[in-house]
Amino acid sequence: MIRPPTASAAQRKRRQRLGVGLAAFGLVAVSVGLWLAPGLAAPPGGQEREFVIEARQFAFSPARIYVNQGDHVTLRVRSMDITHGLYLDAYGISVKVPPMEEGVVRFTADRPGKLRYRCSVICGPLHPFMVGEIVVQPNRPFSIAGVLAAFVGFGGLAYAWWRKGA
Ligand code: CUA
Repeated sequence: MIRPPTASAAQRKRRQRLGVGLAAFGLVAVSVGLWLAPGLAAPPGGQEREFVIEARQFAFSPARIYVNQGDHVTLRVRSMDITHGLYLDAYGISVKVPPMEEGVVRFTADRPGKLRYRCSVICGPLHPFMVGEIVVQPNRPFSIAGVLAAFVGFGGLAYAWWRKGA
């Protein structure tokens, strides 16, 4: 025999639903927090960063560099054999590096994304393959602030909903 649910049963059901909702919210918050944790540990952008890049036939070492958006980047390009060069596509900056010398490139990584750099002096048959990239990571503190604001808003809504239901 089926009886219509009493008021207290309905209330219990609502509390159960609220509990499931809060648990789901907590899970999402924890996983996003874990995902962001390395970003929290990373230094914010706007720092002075310096890298030594060795150029030799036919590669740059390192061929990939990571910086944060807003960093002021100095590349010290050293040629380990013959004359090479480094051309930074996005900024139109170029430097020519004679054997065993050092050329310097400076720029501010003002936009996120990948910046290609390549050898700008014809140095042999595999010269076109002398390439590298600078990965400019987006400004994390800004996105963290956005996510935190979203969570505070979401939490407020959940609380208001809970007060209404109580
Ligand atoms: Cu090295 Cu062209």
